[in-house]
Amino acid sequence: NELYLHGLAGERPAFTTDATRLAESAREILEPGPFWYVEGGAGSGATMRANREAFDKWRIVPRMLRDAATRDLSTTVLGTPMPAPVLLAPVGVQSIVHADGELATARAASALGVPMVLSTASSNTIEDVAEASGTGPRWFQLYWPNDPDLCVSILNRAAKAGFSTLVVTLDTWTLAWRPNDLDHSYLPFIRGTGTAIPFSDPVFRSGLADTPEDDTPMAVLKWIQMFTGADRDWEALPFLREHWDGPIVLKGIQHVDDARRAADAGMDGIVVSNHGGRQVDGAIASLDALPPIANAVGDRLEVLFDSGVRTGADVFKAIALGAKAVLIGRPFVWGLAHAGEAGVRHALRSILADFDLTVGLSGYRSPAELTPDALTRVS
Ligand code: FNR
Repeated sequence: NELYLHGLAGERPAFTTDATRLAESAREILEPGPFWYVEGGAGSGATMRANREAFDKWRIVPRMLRDAATRDLSTTVLGTPMPAPVLLAPVGVQSIVHADGELATARAASALGVPMVLSTASSNTIEDVAEASGTGPRWFQLYWPNDPDLCVSILNRAAKAGFSTLVVTLDTWTLAWRPNDLDHSYLPFIRGTGTAIPFSDPVFRSGLADTPEDDTPMAVLKWIQMFTGADRDWEALPFLREHWDGPIVLKGIQHVDDARRAADAGMDGIVVSNHGGRQVDGAIASLDALPPIANAVGDRLEVLFDSGVRTGADVFKAIALGAKAVLIGRPFVWGLAHAGEAGVRHALRSILADFDLTVGLSGYRSPAELTPDALTRVS
């Protein structure tokens, strides 16, 4: 309503309210390296496309005369209240698209009460992001370091800084084949905004001399040694339980048997995600993986979803197919690229308002009312 009323007064929003068009205009702002690092996927891009196409195979079947004028979209996931079933997905090195990086994102999320999931690979320190979040809800995403002491140190810092829930990303124990980044010789860890290395956290700066530019190849090698290649299995999970008091969520689940194993291992939640199509090219669309997983384990742990959410209708469909909440990835990064904190707010509010209207116009009043009955499959 606010946007329409401003429109009547002759004002237009500073940039588009449509997440796909927001990506297109971000291309005009950013250098090809960072733009494609964010926009690109693994291999041929088949999984990234499939993520979007999967949403088109489901259609909402609106209901009439059901008094949906007043709605309450709020929900609580693992003890975290939120105004709508939406969180900001963990996205690393945000300073490659805007100098304010994760601090801007934290402020925008906090202003809207939307939980932010902070990436281990954040450009800003855990403590600085916590401060920027103020009283806003915040979760922490772990890239599981190979050194157990480093892992415990990161977990302790996150807990001390007030991060309530741990999201453990399993699908990126090494970086995938990403032709866009290879063709641009672009590793975001090398070229950031302003500094050669877009990290201020001691974890990433340790071992760097005063002239980081010269040390970059060594630093990158060190990070690779710290975070990739571990031969971990399900037996490793109790270690995290031992060192984290809050809820634990496994991110990157696509197979129903893995979802069952997560529940058997006593995990509190999972994110059905293929990392936005950035890891296994040719993998199943994340939305196609969701219904069987929600059916199998939805009553044993919280099932969250990401990969491909761009509109309010997408949020609606994922919730109706069994997700308790969804994580938004690239769209908020495009908002950040356009206008820092204000841009993240704009991108997020656009999706939230679209979701609110879609729920109401379809005849529903709350996320809990959205079930598979609200949808039909068209192909
Ligand atoms: C990511 N993602 C991600 N995931 C994670 O667990 N830790 C991280 O540091 C990152 N970093 C990251 C950077 C960029 C540029 C992107 C686009 C994505 C994956 C992210 O959390 C989420 O799974 C996807 O972005 C969801 O897909 P959509 O919404 O972008 O299609």
